[in-house]
Amino acid sequence: MRLSRFDFPEGFLFGAATAAYQIEGTRHGGCGPCHWDTFAATAGNVVRGEDGAVACDHFHRWPADLDLVKAANMDAYRFSTSWARVMPDGRRVNPEGMAFYDRLVDGMLERGLKPFQTLYHWELPSALADLGGWTNQDVASWFADYAEAVTRVLGDRVASIATINEPWCVAWLSHFMGIHAPGHRDIRAAARAMHHVLLAHGTAVERLRGMGQKNLGIVLNFDHTEAASAALADQEAAAVWDGIFNRWFIEGITKKNYPSEVLTGLSSHMPEGWQDDMPLIGQKLDWLGVNYYTRHTIAANPRAAWPAIRDVPGSLPKTQMGWEIYPEGLEGFLTRMQRDYVGDLPIYVTENGMAHADVVEDGAVSDVIREDYLFAHLEATRRAIAQGANVKGFFYWSLPDNYERAEGYEKRFGLVHVDFHSLERKPKSSYHAFARALARNA
Ligand code: FCB
Repeated sequence: MRLSRFDFPEGFLFGAATAAYQIEGTRHGGCGPCHWDTFAATAGNVVRGEDGAVACDHFHRWPADLDLVKAANMDAYRFSTSWARVMPDGRRVNPEGMAFYDRLVDGMLERGLKPFQTLYHWELPSALADLGGWTNQDVASWFADYAEAVTRVLGDRVASIATINEPWCVAWLSHFMGIHAPGHRDIRAAARAMHHVLLAHGTAVERLRGMGQKNLGIVLNFDHTEAASAALADQEAAAVWDGIFNRWFIEGITKKNYPSEVLTGLSSHMPEGWQDDMPLIGQKLDWLGVNYYTRHTIAANPRAAWPAIRDVPGSLPKTQMGWEIYPEGLEGFLTRMQRDYVGDLPIYVTENGMAHADVVEDGAVSDVIREDYLFAHLEATRRAIAQGANVKGFFYWSLPDNYERAEGYEKRFGLVHVDFHSLERKPKSSYHAFARALARNA
């Protein structure tokens, strides 16, 4: 028997998650350019050079998309507001952009869905990228100004606000590994972004809380990390990776310090006086968002510069992204967060999902593999709750297939299939299975 909503505590919220650039389309509503537009326009960065110009055209089709959320018996919808849409030059409000989110939030409320807003899911306005973006410490006050402007309009209706989605991606993946916009591969830029992204979070939390806003949190991503062997060098390499990926941000926020294994490599590149920012970064959260997808196996790479690690292919079944399927990792992070960092603070699984090469056959999409993935991760969540983790909700990534960043439109994560030519939506079997599990009159 598969789980249903009745296997979770009363009031537990189920939903789906999306992000502005990945679904909206940027050609309408006075949206300004962001660093993803130019990253995608630079040969070699994104599969087939695809960008978010059209995406799922959610900008026009949002009512039907919200209908799909409601028809799946979901309680909440996680969306993001695009900085570049709200402030095309990074600083001045575009009333048309703001009005779009105003309608969108009302649309959720009309359908009985709780709006879970994310302020930054990666649309850094190009004008701010020109000034150094996340490597410039002024980004903290630019971001707080944006957060304040949006919250003045939406703050009375959203159920919660996350400052930043996945700071590891904003900082490390984008400034050290060069895989996401702006595509830097530079340890100094990375060290600065690793700190400034949290400084922006703290500055915005202080600003919004000062306005009386409740339910402020952040969404962190976690990958289960395994050492490739029992050899000390591999164990140490795995600890460094765990520090960069899984501990830097949560320790910065909850312990007001960074992991020593990571500072070993980064401290000489950090912005001067970073320690003075830690009280602002370490302000209390109202909730924590956990994004979880996969695990990594890490070995030492003695010939490389710091962090001297390499990824070793794992042996578990993989998704279309090549990511191993490992639900136990979600259980592990939910209980680890509770035990080591946040105690009783409410935790939400803000993203979990898998890509699969889904096809429409005879007018339907059968993605049983995704059903299995989803229910295995719901089981893992339930086990974590049984062990005392205060998990309050679960959001599947994503509602529709969408623009999967550097992978373009090829990797399908949705509960709803999207034909990227006609833009037609078709709920997959996973959508129907989730909807049945969430029915209230079961
Ligand atoms: C996460 C992102 C989300 C989506 C999924 C697959 O890292 O937050 O936007 O791309 O991965």
